[in-house]
Amino acid sequence: MVKEIIVIGAGLAGLTCSVKSANKNMHVKLFSPAHSERSQSVMAMGGINAALNTKGEDDSVNEHYTDTINAGQHINNHNAVEKLTNDAPEIIDWLSKLGTSFTRDDDGNVDVRYFGGQKKMRTAYAGARTGKQILTAINTECRKWEYKEKIKRYIGWRFLSLILDDDKVCRGVVMINENTEEIRDFYADFVVIASGGMNKVFGKISGSLHNDGFVSGKLLNQGIELANMEMIQYHPTTIETPVKRMLITEAARGEGGRLYTLRNGEKWYFMEEWYPEQGALMPRDVVSRSIYRVCHEDNMGIDGENKVYLDLTHLDEKTVKTKLDEVYDVCMNYLNLDPTREPIPVYPGVHYFMGGIRTDDAHKTNIRNLFAIGECSSQYHGANRLGGNSLLGAIHGGWVVADQLEEISCENNSSEEYEILNYEYDAYENWKELQKEANNISSYEIEEEIANIMNRTMGIYRTESELKEGLNKLDSLETIHVNSHGCYYDYILLKSLTDIAKAMLSSALARKESRGAHQRLDYPETNEEYLKTTVISFDNDELKITFNDTEERMSW
Ligand code: FUM
Repeated sequence: MVKEIIVIGAGLAGLTCSVKSANKNMHVKLFSPAHSERSQSVMAMGGINAALNTKGEDDSVNEHYTDTINAGQHINNHNAVEKLTNDAPEIIDWLSKLGTSFTRDDDGNVDVRYFGGQKKMRTAYAGARTGKQILTAINTECRKWEYKEKIKRYIGWRFLSLILDDDKVCRGVVMINENTEEIRDFYADFVVIASGGMNKVFGKISGSLHNDGFVSGKLLNQGIELANMEMIQYHPTTIETPVKRMLITEAARGEGGRLYTLRNGEKWYFMEEWYPEQGALMPRDVVSRSIYRVCHEDNMGIDGENKVYLDLTHLDEKTVKTKLDEVYDVCMNYLNLDPTREPIPVYPGVHYFMGGIRTDDAHKTNIRNLFAIGECSSQYHGANRLGGNSLLGAIHGGWVVADQLEEISCENNSSEEYEILNYEYDAYENWKELQKEANNISSYEIEEEIANIMNRTMGIYRTESELKEGLNKLDSLETIHVNSHGCYYDYILLKSLTDIAKAMLSSALARKESRGAHQRLDYPETNEEYLKTTVISFDNDELKITFNDTEERMSW
C-alpha cells in the first residue's frame, strides 16, 4: 500500500521531507500559503554547518556536537544533536549533488568559514545567499517529483485544524483556501508540520511575517505540547530599516568583521577585550548581552543611542562584495551606507525560536502520526542555537522524518467525516455574523499590542513582575469582537498569537534560572535543577508546565 503523507509548509524542511518521501515511493500532498520562493528559508544568509574538515584544522563531527550542546547550554536533546551533526557532511554532499552552488575553495572543495560559537571553520555557504541557493536546488528536485505525480502542491491553502480520531490519533487536516475561502478536509497516514517560527508574536523582526506562529497556536489548542518556549534568540547584529529589522549575517564577523563602540573618542573593541579567545564570534546570546551591556549599563551606545558599530572597512573589498554580497546590498539599499567604507550601526533583534512544538529525536510529537520539523520543532538547539545549525536542522528534520515514515506501519485510514470539519464551517459562519456588528477595534491594533507586550517583557533580560504584567495585559486583550477587515485568517490568527504569547511568558516565568537566551534578572544563576525541557500544554483550558528529561521519547 502506498503511504499518503501531508506536509504543512513548503520551506526547506517541508520541501526536503516531501522529496525524500517521494523518493521512497510515498504520495505527498504539500500545502503552503505562498510559493516556496517566498518562504523564510530564502532569507537565510550565512551558511550551513558540517564538519567537512577541509582546512587542516582537525575538525570533527564530535566537535560540532560539543559546540552545539555547549551553545544550547545542555538542554538540547543530545540524541537528536548526535544524529544531526553526524549526518551533516552527507547532507552537504546531497545538496551539492542536487545542484546547490556552494562557494568553493581553490581546491574545488565546498568552502567553509568561521561562525559564532565554533572555533573551527565549519560553515558552508553560497556567498551570503545560502538559503536561496539551497532552496532553489531542492525546489527544482521537488518539481521533478510533481511531474511524476508523487508530490501534489496546494499553494494558497492555510492550515485550520488537525483531524483527530477518538483515540487522539492524527488522521488528516482541515484546510482553508485563501482565495476561495473553501474549507475542506484532507486525509493521510501521517501529517508533518513544517510551519516555521512564530515571528508575528514579536512583530517586525529579522524573519518573515509569513511565519506567524498560527499553526503552533492552533495545535496547542488541540492538545499538542510545546517545549522551551522561553528560548528566543536575539541575533546580535540587526539593523533598523523603514520596513523591518534586517539581519547582518554572522558571516560578516566570521570573515573578520569587528564590533566596537567609542570610549573617550577612541574605538573600543569590547568583545575582544571581554572575550579574548573568540571576540565577536562568541555564541549569539553572549554577543547580544554584551551589546546590551554597552548600551544600557555602560551608556556607551553610539551617539547615546542603542547601537554599536560592526566594522568591515578593513576587509578586502572583494570579500565584502562576493562572500558578503547580501550584506553589501542590504546596507546600500536600506541604509544608503557603503559597508566597505563606513561601519554599520547594529543592535540585537529577535531572530529565531529555539522552542516550539515538542519533538523527540525522531521528530515525533505527542500526537500519534504527527511529526514536526524545521523551526517550528524544538529538539536541536536547547537554550541557544549556533548560527549555521538552522538550515542544517531544517533539512535534517526532513531526512529523519522521511526515514521514519518509511519504517512505521500505518493503520487503515478511513475517510469518515470527523466533527472538526463542521466545527470549522461553523466558526467561519460565526465570524461572518460577528463582522456585521460595528467593531471598532482593528485586528491590526491587537496584533501590534501583542508584539509590544512581548517586546517589552521578553527581551534579553526578564523579571517576574514584567512577565506577570505581560500575562495580565494579554488576558485583557479583546480577540472576539474585532474588525478583521474582511479577512477570516486575520481574525483567527489573533487567538493563536495570544495563546503562543502566553505560552512563552508562562514558560519564562516557570524557569527560575538564567540559561542561554533566557536571562532572569531575579534569578541570575544557572541552576542544575533546570537541566530539563520546559513542556507546556493546555489542561482544562489552563496552561500547565512540567520540566521533562531532554531525551524523553514519545510513546508511539
Ligand atoms: O547570521 C546569519 O547568517 C544567520 C544564520 C543563522 O541564523 O543560522
